[in-house]
Amino acid sequence: MYGVRSRLLGALLAFSPLAAAVAHAQPAGIEALQQNMRQIMSNPVLHASAVRAGQERALLCTVCHGKDGISTRDWIPNLAGQNPAFLLEQMHAYAHKLRIDMNMNKLIESMSPEELINVALFYASQPLQARTNLERSEQPGDAARGKRVYDAMCLRCHGPDGRDEKGYAWLAGQKSTYLRQSLERYRNADDGRIDPDMRQIVGGLSDEEIANLVNFLGTL
Ligand code: HEC
Ligand code: HEC
Repeated sequence: MYGVRSRLLGALLAFSPLAAAVAHAQPAGIEALQQNMRQIMSNPVLHASAVRAGQERALLCTVCHGKDGISTRDWIPNLAGQNPAFLLEQMHAYAHKLRIDMNMNKLIESMSPEELINVALFYASQPLQARTNLERSEQPGDAARGKRVYDAMCLRCHGPDGRDEKGYAWLAGQKSTYLRQSLERYRNADDGRIDPDMRQIVGGLSDEEIANLVNFLGTL
């Protein structure tokens, strides 16, 4: 999962100017946290009680992310059915200001490692947003063309169904507007969202290609 990715990245980027950014983007502590969460997931009793505690802790989040992790606005990400390893990694990044969003940085800062794990497990256990309710149809773009780009450029990390088996973000069931904005942020090397892999991959995409991709992702 996460560890494999870190090692691969380390090997790939050892001689690149991005090496410093990657080392910085993965602060000490995240692997121990992931390990801790995997242990809880392997024990059904501990898992169930973590989900319950997480649901309670997530009350503060509902105004934006919804009661069940289906967010209340198109530009706020759904958390329901997301990869727990990715949720944990991103919350850890907000806590360490490696991903910048004023509200999120403040909210996550005050949470303990145990609370981060509980909340990640709660949201991951919620059902994905139904495809019919995504706002895909309002988005421009050609899904068939988007699929060709996805298969060539994205599938190896994000998986054929947008739910890979490694530690990456799951894209299936995500809001279209949020997906488009995230891709634009990586492409534009927005300071708030730094990931050398994503930056390199989407760096050359046109607005039209991004629209096609987003339209395709809405079909997963
Ligand atoms: C005021 C609205 C607001 C509240 C309250 C809020 N969030 Fe968020 N959250 C956002 C927005 C907007 C983003 C996307 C920002 C960005 O792109 O970095 C986000 C992103 C996230 C992400 C990253 C998801 C992804 O797919 O990359 C996670 C995880 C998350 N929030 C968890 C939480 C948790 C847990 C709480 C409660 C403790 C919470 N949020 C409360 C607005 C909010
Ligand atoms: C080498 C592996 C890799 C490839 C290939 C890749 N991604 Fe990613 N993707 C990642 C990683 C790692 C992240 C999390 C980055 C971060 O921490 O911000 C990510 C995050 C994302 C996100 C943000 C998800 C969220 O919930 O915040 C989107 C959207 C995304 N990728 C779409 C794509 C698309 C579309 C392609 C193909 C054009 C692609 N990715 C190719 C590794 C990859």
